[in-house]
Amino acid sequence: MDRPSSSAEHGVEARGVTRAFGTVPALRGMDITVPYGQVTALVGPNGAGKTTLLLILATLLAPDAGHIRVAGHDLRADPEAARVHLGWMPDVFGVYDQLTVDEYLAFFADAYRLPAAERPRRIRALLALVHLEEYLGQPVHVLSRGQKQRLGVARSLIHKPRVLLLDEPASGLDPRSRVELRDLLRSLAAEGVAVLVSSHVLGELEEMADRVVLVDHGRTVGEHRMGDLAGAARPRWRVRALDPGGLAAALDGRPEVGEVSELPGGCELGPLTEAQAAGLLADLVARKVPVVEFGPATGALESVYLAMTENRR
Ligand SMILES: Nc1ncnc2c1ncn2[C@@H]1O[C@H](COP(=O)(O)OP(=O)(O)O)[C@@H](O)[C@H]1O
Ligand SMILES: [Mg+2]
Repeated sequence: MDRPSSSAEHGVEARGVTRAFGTVPALRGMDITVPYGQVTALVGPNGAGKTTLLLILATLLAPDAGHIRVAGHDLRADPEAARVHLGWMPDVFGVYDQLTVDEYLAFFADAYRLPAAERPRRIRALLALVHLEEYLGQPVHVLSRGQKQRLGVARSLIHKPRVLLLDEPASGLDPRSRVELRDLLRSLAAEGVAVLVSSHVLGELEEMADRVVLVDHGRTVGEHRMGDLAGAARPRWRVRALDPGGLAAALDGRPEVGEVSELPGGCELGPLTEAQAAGLLADLVARKVPVVEFGPATGALESVYLAMTENRR
């Protein structure tokens, strides 16, 4: 867990956020910190409350309770001041199909009262940033889903926000667009922006995020630095050997290796921590098992996530 520190250092600082829809308690006490210069991932299963929390942080939905500061401004006391620094990309956003790509961005530049003289240069720079320059003057409806998503990112950046909130930005993107999105968010973080990105797809976050906030049933259940996860995780492990029979014999009758299931050329076993896995590998090598592959079967984030959601059942 990160130590809580003064909110001036963070893009978002939220404590004890609650919100019910009628009798449905969507948020039951969420805590989240989004530091400047980092990408923070908001991770949890469907219905965990990610979208509700993001709508509240974006000042589009009022919380029932909680203390929230965005870019140093108390959301309850001064939402206008927070909004100046906030970029928001919803999970589904209306695209104005009849507009051209640059008209679309000009519309939002207007909404954010960007000086008219700055507008054309800003729009060109944003289109370059999201690799859509060649669509200048083209109608929005010619864009693919991934390209529309990138246009959405451009739109959220029009006023150079210091805090950027994105709800499931990678859903429906092809692998190449995901890599580009990751690079874009990383470069924004490198410029000092506080980026918060929600997802229930874990693989893509592993390389994108510096920190992860795990949420479930409307509560924050964990806050970790990505680098710490590998140590905290207890994944299953995939082992292959030139002599699968010898490997199976070496593992036989050893409950400490967990549940062993057969795979072509080897097996999957565990869950084991990294330290336990290292001990097992050393032992197999000492017994002259010709191991050719030994690695985690799932990413660190996925195994922490699976353990978290399992504990809650
Ligand atoms: N406008 C709404 N009216 C009623 N219930 C809602 C509304 N929005 C969300 N919920 C409920 O709140 C919970 C959290 O939803 P949501 O924030 O969308 O989760 P997530 O984005 O993590 O999938 C769910 O149980 C959902 O059904
Ligand atoms: Mg959602």
